[in-house]
Amino acid sequence: MKYVIGNWKANKNYAEVKSWIFSFLEVYRPNKAIYGVAASYPFLSYLQKKFGGLPNILIGAQNVSTVEEGSCTGEVTAKSLQGIVSFAIIGHSERRKHFKESDQDLALKIIQAKKYGIEPIYCVRDENDPIPDGVKFVAYEPVAAIGTGQNEAPEKMLEMKKKIKLPKDCIFLYGGSVNEKNASSYFATKEVDGFLIGKASLDPLQFFAIGKQA
Ligand code: PGA
Repeated sequence: MKYVIGNWKANKNYAEVKSWIFSFLEVYRPNKAIYGVAASYPFLSYLQKKFGGLPNILIGAQNVSTVEEGSCTGEVTAKSLQGIVSFAIIGHSERRKHFKESDQDLALKIIQAKKYGIEPIYCVRDENDPIPDGVKFVAYEPVAAIGTGQNEAPEKMLEMKKKIKLPKDCIFLYGGSVNEKNASSYFATKEVDGFLIGKASLDPLQFFAIGKQA
């Protein structure tokens, strides 16, 4: 099985989410990919209700709080997400950069996610980002490839895969301008277990088409 994880980032409103689901369900047939959708918090339970029962579909968050619960206005905790999502993206480079999330913060987030049964998908920019204990899913996302349309060549990705200190038996995802046209070149290496996909996941047909290549 391969993993095709969509990271919608801060895109889509309720009407757009409904329309995405409608179009996706029109084309969706289970194949060799597990499809995950990481949406903004307001849409997660709606997505879970619409998708939760379907084979090979997972719903995820794009972040969880470092704190477990209590007086932290505006935080969204792993505890509150339990039962709604099955995974959470942790350590995305946009959060490291714009929200100054440190390696220490990210390690706390991993602890929280795992405590509440949420599988972390841990993002690293290169071999210098340490991977906390307990991580199984690692997404390698070179910053220069994110959102630029300049995906990293599969050969370069393979070089980096050797340098990153990956946990044993980890699930290795690549992210950075993956689309319908370039996805097969990564699968062809037989060295990726799937993708973390931003822009191309916003289009349900393209998102589905990427998984079909698994
Ligand atoms: P992109 O985003 O596919 O738009 O490059 C990937 C990501 O940031 O996870």
